[in-house]
Amino acid sequence: MKPATAAGGPRDPQAYLRNNRELWERWTPLKAASAQYDLEGFRSGGSRMRALERTEVGEVRGRSLLHLQCHVGVDTLSWARLGARVTGVDFSAEGVAAARSLAADIDPSAIFVEADVLTLPDHLDGVFDIVYTSHGVLGWLPDLCRWAEVVAHFTAPGGFVYVFEGHPAGWMLDNQVQAPELRPRYSYFGEPEPLAYEYRSPIAVPDQQVPGVEYVWGHSLGDVVSALAAAGMRMDFLHEWPFAAWRLLPFMTQDADGWWRLPDGLPDMPLSFSLRASKPCADPST
Ligand SMILES: C[S@@+](CC[C@H](N)C(=O)[O-])C[C@H]1O[C@@H](n2cnc3c(N)ncnc32)[C@H](O)[C@@H]1O
Repeated sequence: MKPATAAGGPRDPQAYLRNNRELWERWTPLKAASAQYDLEGFRSGGSRMRALERTEVGEVRGRSLLHLQCHVGVDTLSWARLGARVTGVDFSAEGVAAARSLAADIDPSAIFVEADVLTLPDHLDGVFDIVYTSHGVLGWLPDLCRWAEVVAHFTAPGGFVYVFEGHPAGWMLDNQVQAPELRPRYSYFGEPEPLAYEYRSPIAVPDQQVPGVEYVWGHSLGDVVSALAAAGMRMDFLHEWPFAAWRLLPFMTQDADGWWRLPDGLPDMPLSFSLRASKPCADPST
């Protein structure tokens, strides 16, 4: 991956969206066929949901769960195997097709919707006990306030949203540095114009050449929390973690628990965060 540059000049936000969607249409079949995703192994059983998220989300049996940016549906169907009634949403037709194919063997009642998360109320009805989104999602979204409104729209009164995501402090670091060194390179604070990253291959399949440019938006932790608060959600917790779900920097190593960590000798810093925010119950007196 080449370092990011600010995208040049104001462009139609829809053009960034189209570019990113086309990129995901090319990446998704490669990721779905990769050893990392091992979809055939997943078909044969088991939940891939990480222990930390299972603990923080709590019991899902019998509850309705909406998974935003569900990719090929592995996490969505992992929640289904734990007893949730699931709906997944992604703007990639390839992702939704892969998820539906998995669901046919795992949970035919699972619903997968092809839609941009920011316009989801135009494509999906209903409310859900749990809205879930995780691992490489918010940076694809230009408008976090709109995202939070969509989240609040789909959360049932008394329900909650759970987010597990890369920490914006981690996104500041120069990921071209090979020596074990933390070198801030990018602004912590988001700009209206996205950063343009030049990619040769997607992270899960480094041996495949799929060049392209991805447009991503920085969102500070304050932006995430404030957007949810402005949409009427009430923060239950915000946790920061010194590990990441993927190799953010070249010198990180993966531990037996699946998380990627910095080598000894570097100070701990937040590389992921998890939050849960509830939608207050309707006031019966009003
Ligand atoms: C890094 S992946 C998420 C990974 C996922 N947590 C998993 O199961 O591995 C990001 C996903 O967001 C989707 N996406 C990006 N922008 C989107 C948008 N505006 N609306 C809906 N989906 C979007 C992509 O198609 C992709 O599947």
